[in-house]
Amino acid sequence: GKTWTTVRDLDLTKKDQEVLVRARVQTVRGKGKSAFLVLRSESFTVQAIMFVDDVTVSKGMVKYASNIPKESMVDVAGFVRQPGEKVKSCTQQDVEIQVTGISTVSKTSTALPFELADAARSTKEVEEAKARGENLPTVLQDHRLNNRVLDLRTPANNAIFQIQSGVCMLFREILLSKGFREIHTPKLIAGASEGGSSVFKLQYMGNYPSLARPACLAQSPQVYKQMCICSDFDKVFEIGPVFRAEDSNTHRHLCEFTGLDIEMSIKEHYFEVLDVIGDMFNYIFEGLNKRFKKELDAVREQYPFEDIEFLPKALKLTFAEGIKMLHEAGYTHVDPYGDLNTETERVLGKLVKQKYKTDFFILHKYPLSVRPFYTMPCPEDDKLSNSFDVFIRGEEIISGAQRIHDPELLIQRGKELDVDPETVNLYAGEGGMLRFGAPPHGGCGVGLERVVMLFMGLNNIRKTSLFPRDPNRLTP
Ligand code: 4AD
Repeated sequence: GKTWTTVRDLDLTKKDQEVLVRARVQTVRGKGKSAFLVLRSESFTVQAIMFVDDVTVSKGMVKYASNIPKESMVDVAGFVRQPGEKVKSCTQQDVEIQVTGISTVSKTSTALPFELADAARSTKEVEEAKARGENLPTVLQDHRLNNRVLDLRTPANNAIFQIQSGVCMLFREILLSKGFREIHTPKLIAGASEGGSSVFKLQYMGNYPSLARPACLAQSPQVYKQMCICSDFDKVFEIGPVFRAEDSNTHRHLCEFTGLDIEMSIKEHYFEVLDVIGDMFNYIFEGLNKRFKKELDAVREQYPFEDIEFLPKALKLTFAEGIKMLHEAGYTHVDPYGDLNTETERVLGKLVKQKYKTDFFILHKYPLSVRPFYTMPCPEDDKLSNSFDVFIRGEEIISGAQRIHDPELLIQRGKELDVDPETVNLYAGEGGMLRFGAPPHGGCGVGLERVVMLFMGLNNIRKTSLFPRDPNRLTP
């Protein structure tokens, strides 16, 4: 009998079996007594062919199939066959379906805003055409994002979000195995969690005048994950939305992104946090390469990239060592007590890659003055701090630190940096988390969209955010 299968699972092991698949009609071409369809589901396509044979396939059926609008969803029954020619694309299955029946599940009922093939065109294809003097149609990012439901159907885009799901799965797996527990902290909060400027303000219960009061959307779970540590949860993580009202129109900033946050108690040294991060990313990188090979190839076909290199044990460099490398390479203006910028981070990424053969590294002991108020100063040098950033391909994916657990020191740092007293009180006010004995602790925040973007060397964070929010975009 016929059994349901997916386009993804169609291969030669099913040769000559009769199968049922549900898929999109990517293209269809009728030609006299035959019709040729490309069916697509998730990131995968398969050729389907129909010939009038007067037994199962009638003239009427071929005509019906030839007129199905592109992107309609169909159910197709047919025999799995080995095609005469070798398949060229890694997203196209190397079998064909010889159709015995087709029915429309749901029809496209409007003109397509762009051709999916144009949106899915690889850079290589476009460049090769240019070299021949042809101009292939391409679709602007804004137009694609305006029509995201259709745009998400390209094989590369579908794969990107399968990989994004994979990163979250691997993050959970490794941390749960290390004894972390998953938490869910509030996103509606009373005071800014990361200091003033980038906070989304709102009126809490604003539709009830007697209850209305100012509030904001969480810029990170920072305060609350620390509260969990002070409640003796020992090791926690969260996957949740992070809101930043920043007017940054760059390739790597969003106004809402997904934070993968970690917080843990520290027994002796903040390197305990760095070791968790190093292990975790090796697990994520290896897991992606092993379990998501087809998806990575689907992305690579449209957006070619080289695999990242990483070491069995993550490289740690101090900020001072990083600055020294930059100075030696001629970037003598870089301030050892300032911060790096997008350009100097990229240069450092290249220098590290040349010297240590890795695209993934940790830079630690940052100057205290460039870090948030809750960051632990370095015990040996109070101009420095027990803090770190982590980079992939020379771009920041993580920042983190050991936290101040002494309430007096925290109050002092809050005053020095002019932090909202509401926020400082959550730590060191009456009832504040540090008032009842707090363990030394530290953690970090990882930007999910940045990890996915940089793992595959993509050039824009909007490619790895399902429905991106930036200063100009709030829909769809
Ligand atoms: O560097 P950030 O702001 O650090 C924190 O939120 C701290 N609470 C982390 C901690 O535990 N100490 O954000 C952490 C990460 C960045 O490294 C970056 O990957 C990502 O979040 N990120 C953004 N991603 C997209 N768009 C933005 N506007 C981002 N801002 C930060």
